[in-house]
Amino acid sequence: MKHIAIFATGGGSNAQKIIEHFENHETIKVSLIISNKKTAGVLEKAAVKNIPTLIINREEFYQTENIILKLDAFQIDFIVLAGFLWLMPTYMVKIYAKKVVNIHPALLPKYGGKGMYGMNVHRAVHAAKEAESGMTIHYVNEHYDEGGIIFQAKCSLLLTDSPDDIANKVLQLEHRYYPPVIESLILEI
Ligand code: GRF
Repeated sequence: MKHIAIFATGGGSNAQKIIEHFENHETIKVSLIISNKKTAGVLEKAAVKNIPTLIINREEFYQTENIILKLDAFQIDFIVLAGFLWLMPTYMVKIYAKKVVNIHPALLPKYGGKGMYGMNVHRAVHAAKEAESGMTIHYVNEHYDEGGIIFQAKCSLLLTDSPDDIANKVLQLEHRYYPPVIESLILEI
């Protein structure tokens, strides 16, 4: 069995799709959900599915490597970020080289970098009157949104689309493609 840990801070709709995708998988299991926010919606979703959860704080995450012991205890092979906003510490990126992926709600390298998350991204895309947007799945390094791109999917935008409309279109692409792309990456390791 290969074990996934999902890091998430927000509502966790992507985490939910990933959990469902691997629910009856023969060789891949979502074994741990990690969040930096006690009230994150993803924690309830994990509880419903009986998936262990872990809340982390900033000091522990950046100043110690304690989290590696916890990941080891759950035999975690692969880390999925789904709406997790903290940068990965260097030790994590080294230990899990090419085994940490993130999803970004735009077509990187455009609309990425510090501060470009959530509705900030969709508002910027809207303000620029882009004809298309989309999602990017990429490897994670110590910089925001800069790891190698693994997969992108696009959607067309209408001039009448509001930032919320853009967010909905992009989120649908995320839900559709993130779970199978994760699966194919894990099947290769
Ligand atoms: C997604 O748009 C993802 O691209 C970004 O954060 C959002 C998370 O949404 N990294 P959810 O918590 O999975 O609903």
